[in-house]
Amino acid sequence: MSYCPAENRYETMPYRRAGRTGLRLPAVSLGLWHNFGSVDVYDNCRAMARTAFDLGITHFDLANNYGPEPGSAEITFGRILRDDLGPFRDELIISSKAGYLMWPGPYGEWGSRKYLIASCDQSLKRMNLEYVDIFYHHRPDPDTPVEESMLALDQIVRSGKALYAGISNYGPERAAEAIAILRELKTPFVLHQIRYNMFDRAHEKAGSFRLLEKEGVGGIVFSPLAQGLLTDRYLNGIPADSRAGRGGFLKRDQVTPELLSKVRALTDIAVERGQTLAEMAIAWVLHQPGVTSALVGASRPGQIRDVVAGLRQLEFSDEELDRIEQILNRAD
Ligand SMILES: NC(=O)c1ccc[n+]([C@@H]2O[C@H](COP(=O)([O-])OP(=O)(O)OC[C@H]3O[C@@H](n4cnc5c(N)ncnc54)[C@H](OP(=O)(O)O)[C@@H]3O)[C@@H](O)[C@H]2O)c1
Repeated sequence: MSYCPAENRYETMPYRRAGRTGLRLPAVSLGLWHNFGSVDVYDNCRAMARTAFDLGITHFDLANNYGPEPGSAEITFGRILRDDLGPFRDELIISSKAGYLMWPGPYGEWGSRKYLIASCDQSLKRMNLEYVDIFYHHRPDPDTPVEESMLALDQIVRSGKALYAGISNYGPERAAEAIAILRELKTPFVLHQIRYNMFDRAHEKAGSFRLLEKEGVGGIVFSPLAQGLLTDRYLNGIPADSRAGRGGFLKRDQVTPELLSKVRALTDIAVERGQTLAEMAIAWVLHQPGVTSALVGASRPGQIRDVVAGLRQLEFSDEELDRIEQILNRAD
């Protein structure tokens, strides 16, 4: 039966402007890094995408290498577009990226013009799309001039293969260089995608958010749940079907007793706020000035519903923020 999205899908999701650009993104976006590969069950992928869209999540984030196997998340998403979401293309913001290893030889990774343009073409074919909304350089390349990578993004946008350009994982100095080049080129540049959560504040400390605010660029933060650590997922051991249990990017030895003790203390605050820890963790990243959207992952539709439910309570008192800070800083 053909898919009819929820009629009330735009009623509760907040849409936040990416910096000073015209683009608004849902406060929560869905990433397809894990759980959308060729090894995953298609019906579950499809259910997650439908759930997300029904809840007002208009932004789906991909990259050339998402899978496993690399490329297969884009193929899955192409199938979801064909089966369900395709008729709503103008309601969707679909992104992809290139930067990590995709094919053998000297042109299959990093930031050369050759790689970025070829990879964008491959992504479009896998998803059966004429254009993506945002195309990112996925990671800085120490050996290619930033100008070359930015000119490639500019070319991708000007040739109609992407509407906007983005960068990801750039430190603030390199990001400032990229922003200056894109501004000179008048390339529509909207987003910097960086890792940020209560347990990983490297970009906050390095000044990335200050830069984004100053430059009017949006910040979209990935792994806001620290890959599932900032949830109840690991409180009673490592479930076999969890990211750490399945051998994903989260490793078993990252689930330490010290960290779980902080997770428990943070959960107490979340419960006092009437939230799950996952919900509070999302509210916490959205509270940081410069953050436009929290880019979450999920392994089942219920997790998406949980995270979105948390958007009802985004405010923090100073006392709550202080208590969170104390927990994060304590040496367990
Ligand atoms: N630019 C980059 O370099 C880069 C790097 C990494 C990620 N990203 C993007 O960011 C997206 C999100 O990254 P991420 O998957 O690491 O984000 P995350 O939201 O921190 O972690 C997602 C995982 O948390 C668990 N989870 C989610 N909601 C939950 C809930 N309500 N209750 C309990 N557990 C819950 C699930 O783990 P289980 O699977 O164990 O159920 C899920 O797979 C990626 O898909 C990708 O689009 C970008």
